[in-house]
Amino acid sequence: MRIKNLFLKNFRNYAEETFSFEDGINVLYGKNAQGKTNCAEAVFYLCTGTSPRARKEKQLIRAGEEAAFVRADAESRFGSVRIEADIFENRREIRVNGVKIGKNADLLGNINGIFFSPSELRLVQDGPDERRRFLNVSLSQMSKSYYTALIRYNKILEQRNALLKERDISLVFETLPVWDAQLCRYAAEIVEKRGEYIAMLAPAAQEKHACLTDGAEKLEIFSERKYPEGREAIAKKLEEDFASNYERDMRLGFTASGPHRDDLRILIGGEEARVFGSQGQARTAALAIKLAEVDIFKKMSGEYPVLILDDVMSELDLARRRKLLAEIEGVQTLLTCTHTEKVLFGKTVNKIRISGGKIKR
Ligand SMILES: Nc1ncnc2c1ncn2[C@@H]1O[C@H](COP(=O)(O)OP(=O)(O)O)[C@@H](O)[C@H]1O
Ligand SMILES: [Mg+2]
Repeated sequence: MRIKNLFLKNFRNYAEETFSFEDGINVLYGKNAQGKTNCAEAVFYLCTGTSPRARKEKQLIRAGEEAAFVRADAESRFGSVRIEADIFENRREIRVNGVKIGKNADLLGNINGIFFSPSELRLVQDGPDERRRFLNVSLSQMSKSYYTALIRYNKILEQRNALLKERDISLVFETLPVWDAQLCRYAAEIVEKRGEYIAMLAPAAQEKHACLTDGAEKLEIFSERKYPEGREAIAKKLEEDFASNYERDMRLGFTASGPHRDDLRILIGGEEARVFGSQGQARTAALAIKLAEVDIFKKMSGEYPVLILDDVMSELDLARRRKLLAEIEGVQTLLTCTHTEKVLFGKTVNKIRISGGKIKR
């Protein structure tokens, strides 16, 4: 997978700019608040249809403008692809090779991208939401059907939660099993695919982590909840669980268990990273997980994704920077930083200097 160019119009602090990217490492450098992350964000947006940091599309539109436009040309083993996005305050239009897509699922998988920034420490240090988000973003890019199952699951879950607040108890008891039969079909797919993913992620991340720490500490990842093998068995187990918790859920007014509540446990040296880990340990663990993700994308899709490393280098010591550079050999990378000499160790790369929402040529 390779992004050849990126065109931004009225995106964040960019009026109009064209970027050319090369194979290997592309460094976006410059002082703070110049537009480095904005550029990285635009690339990820074209990969996934979501921003790694903005909650609303409006934030992406240059202040004072009505719309933003982003376009990238990329090449994958399936050929060339052009992705364009018109972003308006309350809606957007995305086109793949000129054809407007109806749903976000049709964008996914065209350009695979992984975004890593210091805030990804949340993956290790924050609550379960962040870990589920990681699984969802990663799996959605790899599997359209996972993404679709997730959307449908969330929709039914919302309806189920509304039903749980209904006063007519007999109506609730009658209707819940109907919702749950549907809910569990999607839930089982989500659970099964997460299980397969974690089975690949755990050993891969452990290996990356051992390499980054010279084997000093062991990283372990596993899902907190155990499910049976096979989609049918998972669905059955989930239906039983939902059914045995009707009263609890009605009392609470929401669905208190299910894949939307499952967590991924991360241990470093046998201890819960979230509770006992230091910043440095969390950083290294998060990096190991992200590097493992790169390899899993390769395994699943046949080629490396585009890797976006936003401000990551400055947080790592020299030894880890070197190891990271060795790890990303052969992966097209967009790397943002303030000082290039401290991150590249004399490597020749495509350097792009950014200042005030413009490339300095
Ligand atoms: N919608 C927007 N319109 C105009 N400027 C914006 C918008 N969103 C962010 N910015 C500006 O972009 C700059 C930050 O860019 P960013 O890419 O995060 O910087 P950095 O180079 O440090 O990564 C800030 O000056 C901010 O004010
Ligand atoms: Mg930045």
